[in-house]
Formats: sequence, structure tokens, C-alpha cells
Amino acid sequence: MPTLFDPIKLGDIDCANRIFMAPMTRSRAGEGDAPTEMNALYYGQRGSSGLIITEGVYPNVDGKGYVRTPGIVTDEQIAGWTRVAEAVHAKGGKIVMQLMHCGRVASHHNKPEGSRTLAPSAIQAKGAMYTDAAGMQPHNTPEEMTLTEIEQTIADYGQAAKNALAAGCDGVELHCTSGYLPAQFLSTGTNRRDDDYGGSLENRHRFVLEVLKAMSDAAGAGRVGIRICPGNPFNDLSDDNPEETFNTLIEKVNPIGLAYLHVIRMKAGVDNIALAKGFDGPVILNDSYDLERGNRALAQGQADAISFGRHYVANPDLVGNFKDGAELAKPNYKTLYTPGPKGYVDYD
Ligand SMILES: Cc1cc2nc3c(=O)[nH]c(=O)nc-3n(C[C@H](O)[C@H](O)[C@H](O)COP(=O)(O)O)c2cc1C
Repeated sequence: MPTLFDPIKLGDIDCANRIFMAPMTRSRAGEGDAPTEMNALYYGQRGSSGLIITEGVYPNVDGKGYVRTPGIVTDEQIAGWTRVAEAVHAKGGKIVMQLMHCGRVASHHNKPEGSRTLAPSAIQAKGAMYTDAAGMQPHNTPEEMTLTEIEQTIADYGQAAKNALAAGCDGVELHCTSGYLPAQFLSTGTNRRDDDYGGSLENRHRFVLEVLKAMSDAAGAGRVGIRICPGNPFNDLSDDNPEETFNTLIEKVNPIGLAYLHVIRMKAGVDNIALAKGFDGPVILNDSYDLERGNRALAQGQADAISFGRHYVANPDLVGNFKDGAELAKPNYKTLYTPGPKGYVDYD
């Protein structure tokens, strides 16, 4: 029976252990939304992890929603990520870039000039988000995407995957939960389209499947993962039947031969651990795990690896800490999203 300390192969990605770092937005990108030396230091410090999944990274400028988040579009951004990937590889780690298009979850105060807020339907998300320019701001009311804009966005995911690999990343992950664009297409509450991308289950699946195909064509399916959390109501997301939406999505995703399925087990009306069993490849489980609970999930055949989010904020060598049985440091929640090194690269 494997433990979290054993190696694992996810598709074409060889990982030294099964203690993964979950994606975490930290809002510290530099000029032009490019990663900085400080970002490279942060990820390098966490390089003993078997696999780092980066913070959400926008695949095109319209996909940016949050303040100071990075992209993988410009040469400057690719160069920044190259330094990040080098820092992780120097520690023997692997790194997958999470591609995150926020869709309607966005404030124009946070977005690059000339960018727009697009979504499957023109329905404003309830709630507000932080901006440097004007404090808390409501989400923009999005414009409904045209078919041409959908096609372009799918192509942009493919180009972003290409760029991530050119920067030296070992793979890419589609952020398909938490109320962002792919989840907006899947869910009945946010998708009111009456064309090929809305209405029936098959039509609501179409965007996600075409994005995964574009990413797989660019990176090879063995270097592409998908992150889901069926039933997650985050960012005003609602679906009439998330269990059906995701069970049938997984059936259609299986033939692509992805590297992994990454599931947040959050209890939100759907048994996500049971649902993950429908996936044909390796499963990464997340949410509120520690070493003991993680090893139990492996022993019970629920997961092949575990990703840790909050523990990684203040414990850069989480693998070493687990090995030593050390008491884990607590993160400073006040500095999760603040600029600068404090609470970011100053943990031992
Ligand atoms: C500061 C912070 C930022 C996060 N940003 C992202 C993100 O960019 N993409 C994503 O998929 N999840 C994001 N999450 C969710 C985490 O990946 C993870 O699911 C959550 O923290 C629960 O896991 P944990 O109990 O191990 O912390 C974020 C969580 C935190 C605490």
C-alpha cells in the first residue's frame, strides 16, 4: 500500500512523492503580470513537494479577475515563469501551471487595459472582490460571449498550455470549479445559452471538453489535469444537478487520457470522493487533509495523492516536516494576498 512519501507517475509526469502543493492565488505578480524573482524564490522554497500546482494563471487578458494575478500570455510572463520552473526543478520538484479564466468573476479595476469581462450569459455574479484602486467592488456584469469569442478563448487555452510548457512547466491544469469560466459553462444558473454551448447537458459540457482538447493538443494529454469540485457554490455558482453534470463529464473526459483528476472533496450536496472513482486515471484529493488523513485516503483507495493548500503557506518544506513529525507552523491569514515578502517567502 503506497504512502504519501512514495513516488507516483501522473501521465507523463514523474513525481518524487505524493505530497502536492494545492493551487493558491497570492496576488504578488510583478510588472505586466509577470512572475518576479520573489515568486521564483517562493515556489523554489516549496520544491520538495512531489508536484506544485501553481496559483491560477490567466490564459488571456479577459480571463484576469483578481488583483495582481499573473498571466501566461506575453514574452515577459513566459520569462518570469521560466525562472519559477527552474527554481522548482533545481530542488527536484515538478510544477504544473493552473490555467484560470475568471469569466464573470472580475472587476475592471483589476484587469489589463483593453480587456473585457466575458461569460456564457450576461448574468452578474452576486458578491464583491478586492481591488487596489477602489477597495471592494461588485463583479462586473459580463458580456455574453459570441461563438467567435468562445472559439478564440478555447484557442487561447491551447496557446497558454504551449507557453507554460515553453517556460519549462511539466504540465497544465484546467481550473474547472469555484465559479470561474469553465464552471460557468457547466452550470445551469450561469449558462442560459440556447446555442451549441448551452441548454442540454451535452451542450453545457462542450466548452470544457473543447478546452481540454486544445490543452491536450498543445501539451499532450499526459501533461494535462483538471480540477473540479461538484456542488461548490463559490462565487454565486448554482447548478440544478451537479452530480449528473460532473458524473457524465467524467465519462466524457476519460477517453482523453488526462494525467490526473484533482478533486476538492468539500461537502456541498455531492459525494465528491465517490464521484472521483468514475475517473480512469490517478486522483488527487484536496481539502483539510493532514499526514494521517492523507495516508488513510491512500490506504482506502480513495486517492493516489493529496494536495495541501494552507499548510504550504507557512511550511515550505512540508514533506520534511511530515517526515520529521514536526509541529506545523500556522499561516498568517492577514498576509495571504498582500504585496511583498512578508508572509510569503519569510517562513523557514
Ligand atoms: C490563499 C488561497 C488561495 C487560493 N487560490 C486558489 C487558486 O488560485 N486556484 C484554486 O483552484 N484554488 C485556490 N485555493 C483553494 C486551495 O487550492 C485549496 O483547495 C483549499 O485551500 C483547501 O485545501 P487545504 O485545506 O489543504 O488548505 C486557494 C486557497 C487559499 C487558502
